[in-house]
Amino acid sequence: MATTKTVKKSAKKKVAAPIEVVETPVSQEECKTCEIAVEPKKKYLFVASEAAPFIATGGLAEVIGSLSKALATDESYDVRVIIPLYQDIRKEYRKEFRFIGNIFVPLSWRNQYCGIFEYKANNVTYYFVDNEYYFKRPGCYGYYDDGERFAFFCRGVMEILNFIGFYPDVLHCHDWQAALAALYLKTSYCQRPEYQFIRAVFTIHNIEYQGKYSLDVLEDLFGISYSYKNLVEYDRCINLMKGAIECCEAFSTVSPSYSEEIKTPFYSHGLDQIIRRNESKLTGILNGIDPDYYNPATDKALFQNYNASDVSGKAVCKEELQKMLGLPVKAETPIIAMISRLVSHKGLDLVKEVIEQVLRNDVQFVLLGTGDSEYENYFADLARRYQGKAVSVITFNSDLSRKIYSGADLFLMPSKSEPCGLSQMIASRYGTVAIVRETGGLRDSIKPYGAGGNGFTFREYNAYDMLYVINEALSVYRSGAWANLVKKAMETDFTWSASAKNYEELYERAMK
Ligand code: GLC
Repeated sequence: MATTKTVKKSAKKKVAAPIEVVETPVSQEECKTCEIAVEPKKKYLFVASEAAPFIATGGLAEVIGSLSKALATDESYDVRVIIPLYQDIRKEYRKEFRFIGNIFVPLSWRNQYCGIFEYKANNVTYYFVDNEYYFKRPGCYGYYDDGERFAFFCRGVMEILNFIGFYPDVLHCHDWQAALAALYLKTSYCQRPEYQFIRAVFTIHNIEYQGKYSLDVLEDLFGISYSYKNLVEYDRCINLMKGAIECCEAFSTVSPSYSEEIKTPFYSHGLDQIIRRNESKLTGILNGIDPDYYNPATDKALFQNYNASDVSGKAVCKEELQKMLGLPVKAETPIIAMISRLVSHKGLDLVKEVIEQVLRNDVQFVLLGTGDSEYENYFADLARRYQGKAVSVITFNSDLSRKIYSGADLFLMPSKSEPCGLSQMIASRYGTVAIVRETGGLRDSIKPYGAGGNGFTFREYNAYDMLYVINEALSVYRSGAWANLVKKAMETDFTWSASAKNYEELYERAMK
């Protein structure tokens, strides 16, 4: 593979040195006349189980969509993404997909049909892996045979590379559903000449889900020889995340703080020993958000658009939100919002403990989300008991979420653990000041007001520490300093620009 640009002897008459390395970039035209070998594009392939805008169940999809787009703005990269072709992939996209062929994917004793569809947008090429038996079902996950479904997907990815003749420099696998792609590369495909230079990078978006299976299905279900048992075995189980960590050239998590936290038992869901053993390969890179997709100046879901230099539209958003949710329309009453999956690690126990004390103030509380019935019932009941002060919308609705991000004043996110979290960034971009616990990406994106930061933070997982900063936030809200804080939150750079560079470095390191 040509990695430097060399000039043919005939083209370098004026040059004294025997072989010149040309440092300055050359155009295609120049390169034809003086026959300079142009450095080939770097090829990156994201392997993931979901990608926005096609299908999304959470932050993973948003990151796959926005990071690939951000990297692809660099003309010297060829960025591609591959995901399963689920039944729920949005129709308006599906009809644009182009069928490029089909292959059969060998996996253990199975040999399964695999259709391949392609779609191009924003300089990124997307592939969709089709097999109706595995993916023509509602939703993405939660089936008894998820292990087999994602084994087929990952094995399919490896075979598709050959079909499309695309051998990436970096195979970037995300979360346990894509871990097997790294494992197949290292346990089998790297022996083929075309695959031998492919490097594997693995990103942990959430360490809670590791892909654990009984050891006796290693060959039969996953098609991995028992001679590789040590690679994937952990705690007497197959652990696909552990396998990917062991065999990749480099791995990352979605914030620097989380990359430290997962070295400890409190955060690691049992994997801290593996993380520590591989820590020389680990980096933490903070996620970004797509500034076009989340833009209060253009967002069509908003009652009125606004920007950091003129936030007057935000007051309209607040008023309309209050009307829509049946809350008293009061401009001076702060709205504290939560938009969250209703699960324990989101810090809901802290909220349960002190929310009634918060509601003694002149505040309104709005919650949007679904999850465990314990929390759904609690918040539904809270709204019944505090009518006119608290509203709980137990559903997920993207349009309403944007109306809340824009219409609220404060955004509460007191997670027990949070690999990165995107909501605090979206809220800030919409001028809704975040109150977060200092963990993972929350700690890396929101800095305390007292130290000149863009929000409010507390360290210990303790309801009264949270109550203290909520009260601090409410008093700043009532002070003359609020408008500046809103502006500061809105102007914080949550784009991918810094983090995309960190990924480039990570890839460079993996390629070495
Ligand atoms: C997972 C994490 C979340 C992160 C997202 C994208 O959903 O729980 O914190 O922001 O992945 O990386």
